Amino acid sequence: MQAYVRTDATDQNVELAEVPAPAVDADEVLIAVHAFGVGVHDRYFIPQGVSFPYVIGLEAAGVVAETGAGVTGIDVGARVMVTSVGNPKGGTWAPLVAVNPRRITVVPDGLDLVTAAAIPIAGDAAVESLHTLGMRSGQTLFVAGASGAIGTLVVQVAAQRGVRVAGSASPANHDYLRSLGAELAVDYGDPTWTGQVRAWAADGVDAALAIQPGTPAPSLQVVRDDGHLVTVSGDPCPSERGIHVEQFPHRADTSSDMADLVADISTGRTRMVIEHVYPFQQALTALEKVETRHARGKLVVTRA
Ligand SMILES: NC(=O)c1ccc[n+]([C@@H]2O[C@H](COP(=O)([O-])OP(=O)(O)OC[C@H]3O[C@@H](n4cnc5c(N)ncnc54)[C@H](OP(=O)(O)O)[C@@H]3O)[C@@H](O)[C@H]2O)c1
Repeated sequence: MQAYVRTDATDQNVELAEVPAPAVDADEVLIAVHAFGVGVHDRYFIPQGVSFPYVIGLEAAGVVAETGAGVTGIDVGARVMVTSVGNPKGGTWAPLVAVNPRRITVVPDGLDLVTAAAIPIAGDAAVESLHTLGMRSGQTLFVAGASGAIGTLVVQVAAQRGVRVAGSASPANHDYLRSLGAELAVDYGDPTWTGQVRAWAADGVDAALAIQPGTPAPSLQVVRDDGHLVTVSGDPCPSERGIHVEQFPHRADTSSDMADLVADISTGRTRMVIEHVYPFQQALTALEKVETRHARGKLVVTRA
């Protein structure tokens, strides 16, 4: 099969190559990939100890093509979303991916597979971030990098819960942020943006979510004393003024929140914004676009 691969553990070049289709073990299902989501991590997020060429990609939606002898409860033909983070047999940028069934979720009726392919990674990061923030109605939240894939979901879900949201993005995305439910949009390139947030929330916001690398330290400036800062980027950020700083933990069981998010996207209550859908042959163009860090919402590649 033709798939996008890394050929080496250190060389981050990604290329289209002919590779064998994955064999399906007894405890695995084979997914015929219809579409896959694109993220900045796709080029470099390769598990340790795998053999090369290694098919890249962490998320997709498709149809179950085969089930291993020991697999029950999922049928050939089922429409599913899949995450392949750390999968030793390779990722989703391929016609076929073999995974353990715990990595798949059935796609609800009414949700198309292109939209479903955009949800797993950004959706998981959004629900884990919100779980870690633990905010109540009426509290204030600042989101740094709010018009990207994670921010687009976080702003909407927080606003639905009655949280008052401010977010940063380029000016061209400010109307977009307001359309998602943000009360205030600021330009991270404008040196007065922290003052604008402080004017909106006089004592500082109750919490901030720093999504983009480089944003935790400046975001700290708009958090109130004893507030909360959660980082998604993983940048280290020393605390000050009693602010609780943490990286979201990847430990919480957020499966119920994730199911709610998928249901809300499927009914249209929450928008899974996809800036552009690329054909399979243009997947590297999609990767280069997401690496600019200026995609609005999510990018998806379709094999159809
Ligand atoms: N920890 C995890 O499990 C996990 C999971 C998924 C992702 N991540 C991390 O999350 C980040 C990607 O998130 P994403 O997919 O939502 O991002 P994205 O699509 O890369 O987000 C782009 C957003 O960032 C904004 N932006 C660009 N440069 C900025 C800057 N200097 N300051 C503030 N905002 C800036 C863009 O605004 P404009 O376009 O309007 O300028 C846009 O809102 C990556 O760092 C990735 O490693 C972590």
